[in-house]
Amino acid sequence: MTQRLSPETEQAVRARIGYFRDLGVFDFYRRAVNPSFVTVSDTDSAVIAAIDTVTVTVREEIPAAHPDSALENAPPMPRAAASLPVLTEPAKSIAPKDRAAAIKAISDDLGNCTRCALHKGRHTIVFGDGDPNARLMFVGEGPGADEDAQGLPFVGRAGQLLNNMIAAMGLRRDRVYIANIVKCRPPQNRVPEPIEANTCAPFLFRQIDVIQPEVLVALGATAATYLLGGKNPLAALRGRIHHARGAKLIVTYHPAYLLRDPRQKKEAWADLQLAMAELGLKAPAK
Ligand code: URA
Repeated sequence: MTQRLSPETEQAVRARIGYFRDLGVFDFYRRAVNPSFVTVSDTDSAVIAAIDTVTVTVREEIPAAHPDSALENAPPMPRAAASLPVLTEPAKSIAPKDRAAAIKAISDDLGNCTRCALHKGRHTIVFGDGDPNARLMFVGEGPGADEDAQGLPFVGRAGQLLNNMIAAMGLRRDRVYIANIVKCRPPQNRVPEPIEANTCAPFLFRQIDVIQPEVLVALGATAATYLLGGKNPLAALRGRIHHARGAKLIVTYHPAYLLRDPRQKKEAWADLQLAMAELGLKAPAK
């Protein structure tokens, strides 16, 4: 707490904390401390060694009205056990010809990931699939049983519906990119815990930063929450353009929800038309 930081280090640490806050992670130093499923890189250790000093100031700057302002009472981050998710600086443009290799590098970084507890129940990491130069990217919540078995996103029943939605837009699935907030199947397909989503999502953000899609479609509330960095009801988010990681973001229903309540398909189609308008696409003639 009393450690003095050089101005450069302080700036770097502040940038890192600011980056977390952009992602909606206001209390990462409370949450990302479970030593059983975090690993600490040398870089992270260096940042963590400095971070207490800066978080104290940053905490004071967080508006009291923020729902997470309860963190005023948060205990200080235990040094030895602490870790941050792997991060990179947001959006440096990568030439289209280099994007496939850059995506592969992210997959290599992810490796046989054990950063969160979800690895314990997974069979296969579902990294993401599609065109590294896609103009349109879909983001779901997390793999289900079929995806976990095949290692590909949206290949089960919800995936078939997503394929139909993509075709209705006049696009081919292999020309878009599809990924999830978490890359490992949550037990019983439950919603990912914040610690899981916040640990995994930085890899998704890196994928987005490489692909630089013009339009992101968040499929369901979990995708919307972590892409926008805050929790809101889907109804409040649908029907307009948001922004995330340099892309226009449109929020719609998750295909699994549409399978349960097909009456909402009309609404979802309206959302996809919004995406198509942004991309200058016309629906193919029937
Ligand atoms: N549901 C998701 O959110 N993602 C998948 O990949 C499959 C089902």
